[in-house]
Amino acid sequence: MVVPENYRGREQAFVKHRLLKTYLERLFMIIGLSQPVIRYVDCFSGPWNEKDEQLKDTSIGISLGIMKKCLEGLRGIGRNVTFHALFIEKDRRAFEKLDVHLKATTMPGISTTAHNGEFFDLRNEILRWCGQDDFVFFFIDPKGWKNIVEIPTLEPLLKRPNSEFLINFMYDFVLRTHTQESFQDEMKAIFGKIPDTASLNPKQKDKHLINLYRSKLKEIAPLKGGKPRTAYVPILYPVKDRTYYHLVYLTRHPKGIIVFMEASEKLDPVQHQVREKAKQEKRENRTRQLELFDSADDTNVVVSVDIENVKTYLLKIITGSSMRFGIEKLADMMEETGWFERNFQTAFKELFTKGILVNIDDKKGRRRKNHVNFEANRNKGEEVIRLTP
Ligand SMILES: C[S@@+](CC[C@H](N)C(=O)[O-])C[C@H]1O[C@@H](n2cnc3c(N)ncnc32)[C@H](O)[C@@H]1O
Repeated sequence: MVVPENYRGREQAFVKHRLLKTYLERLFMIIGLSQPVIRYVDCFSGPWNEKDEQLKDTSIGISLGIMKKCLEGLRGIGRNVTFHALFIEKDRRAFEKLDVHLKATTMPGISTTAHNGEFFDLRNEILRWCGQDDFVFFFIDPKGWKNIVEIPTLEPLLKRPNSEFLINFMYDFVLRTHTQESFQDEMKAIFGKIPDTASLNPKQKDKHLINLYRSKLKEIAPLKGGKPRTAYVPILYPVKDRTYYHLVYLTRHPKGIIVFMEASEKLDPVQHQVREKAKQEKRENRTRQLELFDSADDTNVVVSVDIENVKTYLLKIITGSSMRFGIEKLADMMEETGWFERNFQTAFKELFTKGILVNIDDKKGRRRKNHVNFEANRNKGEEVIRLTP
C-alpha cells in the first residue's frame, strides 16, 4: 500500500477518503436503481490541507469523481439518474477555491451549489435545498464539535426522512474534555448526560462513549422510514496507537449497515498498512537509517475476531428452537457487535459442522460460502434450527 505523496503527514485523511470513496460508490449504485435523484451534502467541505490542484485529495474531488463514475455506471444499465451536490464552507479563502473549482468542472447530470457560511446558521437553508422527497447523503466532517455534533444541533437534519449521515465524531477531543467541569454543558448536549467513565479502562471508555453517542443519534428519528441504525469506523492516529476520531454512520436501512460494514472491512488492512508505514518513516527519520524490511508489506496484523466469541454470541441469541436470519437480523448483529458478515459466516459454518445448528435450507451443509444466505427469500433470509441445547 503506497500512500500518495499528497497525504503525507495526514495519513488519517487518506483512510477517511478511502472509506468515503468505497462507501459512496456502493451507495449511489444501489440508490440509483430505485430513485431518479440523488443528493449529496458536504456540510464542512473545505478544501482543507489539499495538495492537489484538482482537489483530488479532498472530499470535494472524491465525491464528484464518484458521482461521475456512478452516473455513467447507472446509465450503462439503463438508469438515468441526476445528482445534486451542495457544499458548505465557512472560510472565505477556502470557499473561493471551492467555487472556482465547481465552476471549472461542470458535468452534465451533476449540478453543484456552494454556500459560504456557518453550518449552524445554514441548516434551514440546507434542508430547503434538499426538498422533501429525494434521497440525501450528509457528510459532516468538521475540525471541531461545537455547534456541530451535538444532538440538538443535528436534530433538524436527523428528522429528515430518506437520509443517511456520515459524521466525524472527534473522539480524542471528547475523551480529553468529558470529565472537565467547564465542558459539562457541552457534554450534556452531545451525550444527553455527563458520561461516567471513571471505572473504565481506555478501551472500555472508547466503546462506552461512542456507543452512548450512537444511541443518542438514534433517538431522533423521522416520522417515516425504518428504525435508525448506526455503525462506525475508528480512525487512528497515524503513529500513535489511539483513536483520533470515529466516523459514525447513520441510516434507516438494514442493507445500509451491511454495505457500510463491507466498506469498513476493506478499510481494516488499508488503515493497518498506512499506519505501519507512517510509523516506519518516523523511526527512519529519527535514526536516519532505512529499515531493512518495508513494514507496509506486513498485511497480516489486522485485529482479528475470536470466532469462539462469535459462536457463543450466536448460541446466546437463538433463544428458542430456531431463528430466521435475514438482513434485518444481520444488521442487528453487526450493530451490536461490530463484527463483519465473514465472522458470522465462519461461526455458522463451525456450528453447522459440529451439528449444533442446522440451516434448514441447506441441510447437508454443502455450501462453500453463504452458509446462511441473509438475502434469500427477499431478504427474509434462512431458518436456522438449534439441535443441541
Ligand atoms: C476537516 S475540514 C474538511 C475536510 C473535507 N471534508 C475533506 O475530507 O477533504 C473542515 C472544513 O470545515 C470548515 N469549517 C469549520 N467550521 C465550519 C463551520 N462552522 N461551518 C462550515 N464550515 C466550517 C473549515 O474551514 C474546513 O475547511
